[in-house]
Amino acid sequence: MTGGAATPRWAIIGTGAIAEQTIGDIRLAGNIDIVAVASRTAATAEDFAARHGIPRVFASVEDALGSADIDAVYICTPHSSHFELARQALLTGKHVLCEKPLTLTASQSRELADLAAARGLFLMEAMWMKFTPAVLQVQELIRSGAIGEVRSVESSMGYNFPRTETSRLWNAELGGGALLDLGVYPAAFAQLLLGTPLSVAAHGVMQADGVDLRSTLTLGYSDDRFATVTSSLTEVIMAFAVVGGTAGTIVMDPTFFAGGAIHCYSAPDYTAQTTTVPIEGAGYVPMFRAVGEALAAGLTEHPRHPLADTIAVLAVVDEARRLLAAARPTA
Ligand SMILES: NC(=O)c1ccc[n+]([C@@H]2O[C@H](COP(=O)([O-])OP(=O)(O)OC[C@H]3O[C@@H](n4cnc5c(N)ncnc54)[C@H](OP(=O)(O)O)[C@@H]3O)[C@@H](O)[C@H]2O)c1
Repeated sequence: MTGGAATPRWAIIGTGAIAEQTIGDIRLAGNIDIVAVASRTAATAEDFAARHGIPRVFASVEDALGSADIDAVYICTPHSSHFELARQALLTGKHVLCEKPLTLTASQSRELADLAAARGLFLMEAMWMKFTPAVLQVQELIRSGAIGEVRSVESSMGYNFPRTETSRLWNAELGGGALLDLGVYPAAFAQLLLGTPLSVAAHGVMQADGVDLRSTLTLGYSDDRFATVTSSLTEVIMAFAVVGGTAGTIVMDPTFFAGGAIHCYSAPDYTAQTTTVPIEGAGYVPMFRAVGEALAAGLTEHPRHPLADTIAVLAVVDEARRLLAAARPTA
């Protein structure tokens, strides 16, 4: 695919782990034309470009954001940089796909959403989970009535990440902590199936610097429906999900949002019906393809992952972080 007036020319911003992990899937999607890459360090960007056959390297992130030759950017930098980079990109007229979490707080995402709307530009958080066949399949099972009315959602994700000097996960200034890095997945899954919660309760551990190590949130909804959302930087919890309904249960094996076995236990006999859904590429292909299609259709948000959902999930994270900070022993 070549760049042109009708084909948005994309630049990748950042050359770290997620950029490496997704570049193959971007190619597989077939409708996202990566013409350039930028990083804070030109040498890193040159190396990335050479290894992945990307024609152009910008000397700096600022050069890429200011370039008239770029129509859209995929932001792959640490959380704490997302707001300012996305804001700059929108101000210079670029569509934005930004890695999760879109920003550190709900109010920052609101500001970006307003800016994108005012400029008529596409903006989406790269919440690939919402686009995977596994999650679509669960929604289809629910729509078909397989488990009756959904009453509860339980999902978790944790790793025992090494605490190193350089890890962004343990660095408060880079937006470290379990909730912003991992918790957004189970929280977005609960948001997808139950909507925006009316209440948030949190048990967990937060360091004095604001890095939350682990927590379980209980989210309350109308009509006594509930979700639990667990995330951890200090223990391994394979990412599973359980959806409880009035007539059955769906259990999604790890990694629930990427794909794998889905077990559906329906009334009256609750015998497991197991389906395994395919994973395309590393799992990100459906999201990239959907973004390419949305841009081609002139959309400014993707209906499957609208900004309202990103903002609602970050509002849950805001409140959970506030509760964990308030509960932290001061002695
Ligand atoms: N969707 C997923 O499955 C998934 C998985 C992992 C991570 N992520 C998300 O992707 C983002 C990046 O995570 P990562 O694991 O790829 O991080 P990483 O490996 O540390 O890479 C970060 C990249 O950003 C650049 N960078 C660092 N600070 C920057 C700044 N202030 N401004 C501009 N560029 C900066 C770094 O390169 P230079 O130093 O050369 O500039 C590096 O290329 C995070 O928000 C994370 O949540 C998503």
